[in-house]
Amino acid sequence: MDFERRIDASIVHPQGVDEGIRIDPWSSQQSTDYSRIRDQFGLGSIQDMDIPNPSMLHRRGIIFAQRDLDVVLDAARNKNPFGVLTGLMPSGRMHLGHSMVIEQVKWFQSQGADVTIAVADLEAHATRGMTLNQCRKNALEDYVLNYAALGLDSEKSSVYFQSSRPVVQRIGFTLGKRTTLSEMESIYGFEGESNLAHIQAPLVQVGDILHPQYEEYGGLRPIVVPVGVDQDPHIRLTRDLATRSNWFNVKSRKAGGISISLSIQDVNAGVFGVGERGRVDREARAQIFESIHNAIATFGFSDIISNPKHGLIEIPGATNRDRGSIRIALLRLERELGGLGLLPPASTYHRFAIGMTGDKMSSSKPETTIFLDDSIPDMEKKVKRAFSGGQATVEEHRRLGGDCDIDVAFQYLLSFFEPNDVALEEIRRDYSSGRMLAGEIKQICIDRASEWLNELSEKRQSIKDRLNDYLAEDAQ
Ligand code: TRP
Repeated sequence: MDFERRIDASIVHPQGVDEGIRIDPWSSQQSTDYSRIRDQFGLGSIQDMDIPNPSMLHRRGIIFAQRDLDVVLDAARNKNPFGVLTGLMPSGRMHLGHSMVIEQVKWFQSQGADVTIAVADLEAHATRGMTLNQCRKNALEDYVLNYAALGLDSEKSSVYFQSSRPVVQRIGFTLGKRTTLSEMESIYGFEGESNLAHIQAPLVQVGDILHPQYEEYGGLRPIVVPVGVDQDPHIRLTRDLATRSNWFNVKSRKAGGISISLSIQDVNAGVFGVGERGRVDREARAQIFESIHNAIATFGFSDIISNPKHGLIEIPGATNRDRGSIRIALLRLERELGGLGLLPPASTYHRFAIGMTGDKMSSSKPETTIFLDDSIPDMEKKVKRAFSGGQATVEEHRRLGGDCDIDVAFQYLLSFFEPNDVALEEIRRDYSSGRMLAGEIKQICIDRASEWLNELSEKRQSIKDRLNDYLAEDAQ
């Protein structure tokens, strides 16, 4: 990933070392100190991962971090089912920034994922002051139309509305029992004046992310959530709540191997043989241990140390690679016993493209971005006025060259409009050496963007009568 280092150099904003970053998913001000975000929130790097047929966003380091992506890549490699889920608020008009998530979804789809996309109408209602009707209209006329035009496969995609799928709200309610107001305050900065719908919105998103694992929506399988890094608080919350709801903890042992312990909760105390004042019902406990042994019998471990009294099973011979399959086997067992059996979601994160004026991209400031249905003349105007990394005079430019890291035309070719790596490298070389002038790189950007927008607009025309194919039954 050649591009990673160069992009880093341009976006890192030095900040105080001691104060932590807080990510606010609803703010237009986001930290772009990506390596710090990655370290502070424990995101995995993507650089050493073996990504099959990497997309342009992978090759150029724009997708820069992940959680548990290996679980998903394993499923893809072994041709096991896995799903991708993401969502967008249907507020404002869909622009280039939004299209990055759909590009990620498309890539997972090409690797065999089934696709679920949430129209976050409840969230937009709670946080953007839109009525549910406005959300619906906007979603259908703009967002879903563009999802289709951007090339999602309708056979394998299903778009739904948060407000029309009660199960996502039910999950939010059920798992809401496992968090507290203080935790929501510390993750999101909510306070006494926050409206309750806003506080509920992240729990609805937890429901969005987890419900594809329900039997009616495809059953237990890895689910990956591609998002901008501003959404990571929701991912963390979802992963924590899913893990807290699990009946079995599967951990690596210090001495090597894997341990399985019972996570005793109100809902499973009976099944796990925990009676009054913590007394262990030996018969029930023996039964649950037998079920665990049966669930992992297929792995053929010869050495299994059982301690029913303490609710602990140890498998010294199991490797970390077995951990995933053991976890799945136990989630299955949990479901048989009446639990939810939820696997924490995986995720991938993309960097934000810079706004055309040089600062943040925002749908409320049309001059900072290109909308997917912008006319060619409007796009042209924006590119011509866009922030340039060129020098003040032609002489100086020839001598010093342009700065690709801050040049909007170059950055947009890199993130959106120039899929060919060789062509992009040529442009980079010519522009940074001063051979290519600022006006010239802008013209290249305009030409590529025109092709891109025209093609998208043709696709919108040809597909607009078939949008129903993309909608789930409860969204019709
Ligand atoms: N919160 C997201 C946004 O601000 C939208 C969203 C809703 C979402 N549900 C989701 C994103 C589930 C990813 C996964 O646009």
